[in-house]
Amino acid sequence: KQLVIPKDPSLPPEVFYWLPLIGSAIQYGNDPLKFFFQCREKYGDVFTFVLFGRKITVALGDKGNNFVLGGKHTSFSAKDAYTHLTTPVFGKGVVYDVPHEVFMGQKKMAKVGLSVDNLRSYVGMIEDEVEEFLGSDSNFLVSQENDNQDWGCFDVTEVMSQITILTASRTLQGKEVRECLDKSFSELYNDLDGGFTPLNFMFPNLPLDSYRRRDRAQQKMSQFYVEIITKRRRGNLSAERDMIAALMEQKYRDGSFMRDHEIAHLMIAILMAGQHTSSATSSWALLHVAHDQNIQKALYEEQVKYFGTGEGQFRSVTYDELRQLPIVNSVIRETLRMHPPLHSLIRKVCEDVPVPPTLSSPSGGGTYIVPKGHYALSSPSVSQMDPLVWLKPNDFDPSRWLDPNDTAAKAFCVYSDEMGDKVDYGFGAVSKGTDSPYQPFGAGRHRCIGEQFAYLQLGTIISIIIRKFKLQLEVDRVPDHNYHVSFFETLRFPPPTLLYYEDYDSGA
Ligand code: HEM
Repeated sequence: KQLVIPKDPSLPPEVFYWLPLIGSAIQYGNDPLKFFFQCREKYGDVFTFVLFGRKITVALGDKGNNFVLGGKHTSFSAKDAYTHLTTPVFGKGVVYDVPHEVFMGQKKMAKVGLSVDNLRSYVGMIEDEVEEFLGSDSNFLVSQENDNQDWGCFDVTEVMSQITILTASRTLQGKEVRECLDKSFSELYNDLDGGFTPLNFMFPNLPLDSYRRRDRAQQKMSQFYVEIITKRRRGNLSAERDMIAALMEQKYRDGSFMRDHEIAHLMIAILMAGQHTSSATSSWALLHVAHDQNIQKALYEEQVKYFGTGEGQFRSVTYDELRQLPIVNSVIRETLRMHPPLHSLIRKVCEDVPVPPTLSSPSGGGTYIVPKGHYALSSPSVSQMDPLVWLKPNDFDPSRWLDPNDTAAKAFCVYSDEMGDKVDYGFGAVSKGTDSPYQPFGAGRHRCIGEQFAYLQLGTIISIIIRKFKLQLEVDRVPDHNYHVSFFETLRFPPPTLLYYEDYDSGA
């Protein structure tokens, strides 16, 4: 049984541990959600645990999310929490390697690449990529030994990972990246991705081969993007409507343009930010859809209603129509409620911060201080699965998003984004602000800029797959999360995670 270690009463209660170096790493690493729910029962919404010698203060619930994500960046720093993990992967001069204000300027510039006009132009490209990929069984068919020989079979995580990188590179990353999406680019990507492990977070500089591969890949990838930019500047390549083009045109507040290596490194950051998140979300969505034939039928009927041209034929999706589709968007919202790709959003505490009294404390309502030097952790996953907030939180039920009286629908509204601009996100899986229980894209200044793109990408991919395939789950229930590969992510569950499919066109 875990006990509170007696100590300074002005500090949050601390989860008991035996080994100071390891602390609660095993419980947290095995199943962070279970660990957080158990701790909440014992200590309330605010408590501290030790992770390999670091003190992490967790603040749960919508008020906890608000406390951490809505806190001042001078108190809670994302830069200081993440830079040693991200800078070797993205490169210098961007994101958490630069002062907060500079990164905010870079985010603003990147948002231009995600404008509605750009998104409109991306839909057809995503559709083409998915159709081309699915057009040939050999791209994804797994040979199978099972009783269900009439059906094909594919590894959902592998396939969604490929479709995600194909569609993101064709659109945001630009045609030069798409054209080079051969083995060498994939290898570079994999080596860079190998830089995002728990080991890298805990020990940023080890003399390991994977670290050397990460650094080599970063240099090559950076060079690759710089060459594209140089060629575009010389006018040898026509400027496209993509992120590189947007970043080349934008200026910082002081009137200066982004330098080539900064654009290159921001492109790497955007590639990495959107890859696992979107591919894990589409994987989970398809697993649930394959598991629940009623949802699958509703999705198919929605496609027929909006895009059907008779006899199993469909016309192209448009951005404006996709925004309005109730079923597919509810499926995505519900997937992100149960399986937000990032379960732990972390900040370094840069000054002592008092915890507001509204955040519960079991020891009689005293006000705690989160001391400088701790890390602060917000986990929207907990509020998104909280039985005090949601009816039957463990049920995958997209219809909760269509009931105007449900908590889900109340969390779904127009809000101010991280720059303070009023934004109608349209696809709608948005939170009211930093104190919403529903925050799969985070909140506050570090809120995701990729939400609309992700909805567009996911909605188009799911639509095309549902039109083409009837899906069935290999096992009798949707698999559990596997948290072992990464500290912060709920994704990357172990293979094989197979889905059976029957192609409506060919019968198998
Ligand atoms: C930030 C989730 C896709 C770019 C975030 C954060 C979350 C998140 C939770 C906040 C991190 C924090 O506060 O520590 C997701 C999910 C996605 C997704 C669930 C897809 C389903 C994308 C895509 C892009 C992107 C496609 C690029 C186009 C970013 C950027 C930030 C961010 C630039 C800002 C980081 C910061 O300000 O510190 N995302 N993301 N994301 N995401 Fe996403």
